[in-house]
Amino acid sequence: MAPINLFEYEALAQQHMAPVTWDYFQGGSDDEVTLRNNRNAFESIRLRPRMLIDVSDVQMQTNVVGVPVNMPILVAPMSAHMLVHPEGELATARGTGQAGTILTVSTFSTYTIEEIAAAATGPLWLQLYLTRTMEATGSLVRRAEDAGYRAIVLTVDTPRTSRRERDVRNNFLIAKAARSANFVEAPGSDPVTIQQSRHITGTWETLDWLRSLTKLPILLKGILTAEDTLLAMEHDIQGIIVSNHGGRQLDGAIESIVALPEVVEAVAGRCEVYMDGGIRRGTDVLKALALGARAVLVGRPVIWGLAVNGSEGVRSVLELLRAELEMTMMLAGQPALASIDRSLVKLL
Ligand code: FNR
Repeated sequence: MAPINLFEYEALAQQHMAPVTWDYFQGGSDDEVTLRNNRNAFESIRLRPRMLIDVSDVQMQTNVVGVPVNMPILVAPMSAHMLVHPEGELATARGTGQAGTILTVSTFSTYTIEEIAAAATGPLWLQLYLTRTMEATGSLVRRAEDAGYRAIVLTVDTPRTSRRERDVRNNFLIAKAARSANFVEAPGSDPVTIQQSRHITGTWETLDWLRSLTKLPILLKGILTAEDTLLAMEHDIQGIIVSNHGGRQLDGAIESIVALPEVVEAVAGRCEVYMDGGIRRGTDVLKALALGARAVLVGRPVIWGLAVNGSEGVRSVLELLRAELEMTMMLAGQPALASIDRSLVKLL
């Protein structure tokens, strides 16, 4: 029987994935407090629905840093899609394009960014880690531009990869389990070494270096405070993604949905704000929009769809979420994205 919501995809996906792979995708760091709270936090936000409004035609098309999308729901960057399906990111790109939205391709994709662009049926963003050397990082940015990617998403919450104890216990090393397609052809490169020494430490100055390399919109992913938002505003960036990496970096870090309002306030309209972490229901999306996100990104549920049914599963997961958002907007008396504002929620 076809899954009717994202949680049913989750249960089904577990049957399609090796236990060790399942742990890699599902897990978080240390005690997984942030991972759990990313979800739980949505429950303490209540909706204040409005009545007697014509909701016969709900509009949810929008644009994100200038790219038109069918819905305010995008796909978050995740490494190693090939671990759950042989077509990996190629299938994810096709399914996401069919749903009319954007796939953010991870630096650590298992097909090259060019292969993914060739298979894609919709717009792509490139997620960037500062890998090994500035030269290697810079060359990936240029390749993304050449391949038609529409924005660069610089992830800033990963000066080191955290300790994920499920992986430690399973003796699972992502660098050994999955190829890092984008770097294999670099001279003298060995994918294992690349991922093990994978991050060089960036600083705020790195943003100016990145800006000098590309004219594409730059988004910062992993900002959680007003303080960092104000620092970010001193640089030429076009968007902020409020994120704690799906509970996979600093355990105990504030839930994304809780951090969102202070970032939105600090931005004060100067760039676009997005969030990810724990989005599983249309009501979660609506709450994030009400708190000031222009759109949300979903991570693990897309992997569940991919594991269960390749590109079709990805499309189906995104369509389910889209249909839930549509229903939610109707029931809340919100026929258009533009009418959604802070008055729609009450924080307990
Ligand atoms: C991630 N995430 C991530 N983020 C990033 O910037 N670059 C990356 O390569 C990855 N890789 C990755 C792998 C896996 C297995 C997961 C689960 C997550 C974080 C991701 O983009 C996003 O922030 C969270 O996954 C969002 O939370 P949900 O929707 O999974 O709860």
